[in-house]
Amino acid sequence: MEASGLMARKSVDDIVSGGEAEAQGLSKSLGALSIVAMGIGAIIGAGIFVLTGTAAAQYAGPGIMLSFVLGGIACAFVGLCYSELSALIPVAGSSYTYTYATLGEFFAWLIGWDLILEYAMGAATVAVGWSGYMTSILKDVGLVIPPQFAHAPGTAIEGGGTALFNLPAVVIVAAITLLLMRGTKESAWLNNLMVAVKLAVVLSFIGLGWRYTNSANWSPIIPENDGTFGHYGYSGILRGAGVVFFAYIGFDAVSTAAQEAKRPQKDMPIGILGSLAVCTVLYVLVAAVLTGLVPYKDLNVPDPIAKGVDVIGIGWFGALIKLGALSGLTTVILVLLYGQSRIFYTMSSDGLLPKLFSHVHPTYQTPHRSQALIGVLVALVAALVPIDILGEMVSIGTLAAFCLVCGAVIHLRRTEKRMKRPFKVPAVPLVPILGILSCLLLMAGLPLDTWLRLVIWMAIGLVVYFFYGRKHSVLRRKNGTAG
Ligand code: ALA
Repeated sequence: MEASGLMARKSVDDIVSGGEAEAQGLSKSLGALSIVAMGIGAIIGAGIFVLTGTAAAQYAGPGIMLSFVLGGIACAFVGLCYSELSALIPVAGSSYTYTYATLGEFFAWLIGWDLILEYAMGAATVAVGWSGYMTSILKDVGLVIPPQFAHAPGTAIEGGGTALFNLPAVVIVAAITLLLMRGTKESAWLNNLMVAVKLAVVLSFIGLGWRYTNSANWSPIIPENDGTFGHYGYSGILRGAGVVFFAYIGFDAVSTAAQEAKRPQKDMPIGILGSLAVCTVLYVLVAAVLTGLVPYKDLNVPDPIAKGVDVIGIGWFGALIKLGALSGLTTVILVLLYGQSRIFYTMSSDGLLPKLFSHVHPTYQTPHRSQALIGVLVALVAALVPIDILGEMVSIGTLAAFCLVCGAVIHLRRTEKRMKRPFKVPAVPLVPILGILSCLLLMAGLPLDTWLRLVIWMAIGLVVYFFYGRKHSVLRRKNGTAG
């Protein structure tokens, strides 16, 4: 395989000028605050509302607070790298676009394939979380979804037997897919409203819950390891960090707004790092309150925050929290399903995926076929796979993609020395290297099964690339190196 062939890459200038052309017509209306709000809208979801409970119960105990600190540190390094790339290449980008410009088509493919884990599987994970809260709300009003139809197959259910599939998760994916196929206008005020609701729920949980915490539940903060790696103790905190890393995913979605930012060079770093900082503080506090309210062993439930609220014992507050969580989870599913179709659109325009994925509906102006196909696949996964397996898979896939993003910063500093960098990561290559190492560390904490699933997923990706993408690559055809 010839090196030049493997390294087929677009020039940064091409991408930027193409992006500017595309961006004509988009208004440059977003200020730093709107971008921070957008980030928070995409970030706060199933990670905090669901996985915190399962990760505390199974792996870290109250030490889950420290897991969130570890995850926040890793994201800060990666967020700095994202900031440099999104200010340098301000196109409706994802790490796929950056990687195409920096490390070439092969790595771009790897990252694009990896991003399916982040976006499509992420949407499935959040849909399962949504199902947990929906089932709980319906139960409160006397409507019981039979447990056989509210969990993944094989899940043991109360009263004996096992579940068949997760119906509410399918319903929410189908509903949002239909909405996206028809086209939704990104509405800044609606997004801001949903973010405000989500923030209000989280803040009131912290504010009210704090007074009801029982310090005995925090003792010990780090439960003793039970002899198995990842089950409590320090390794449990590491594993917990790998799992709840899911809660931070979404800050990269902010980079898609680069073309609409008033001052992308300033607003993007503020947007990315600001939303990360706010979420880290909130997460650590929620984790502290939750593990203070409920003994950690009891948190392995689909709606752990609701369980915490039960301890507070104010009925209406419980209902409010559940509704807030539900609306928060809905926006995250929307962002992820939307993002997946747009990444496929770009990959398909580059020839790496079939044309179906870049076909746009003449009236709705959306990639409706792609969106429908994604919806069917995501609904199937959400119906059949339990949330912990999904969440870990999403975390490991995203962490792998983030390593490449950090690598791209180092590479681009060497190859494109003279480009004007509106935002510069400090202390390169130290910071990107710390980013890579911290992502690898979190990956190392995840179970072997999750690693195996990642390896199998990437192997399938390589087969698709060499049998399809390489042969149909638009860039290679232009360069005469296709096939
Ligand atoms: N960070 C997002 C969530 O927790 C994906 O739902």
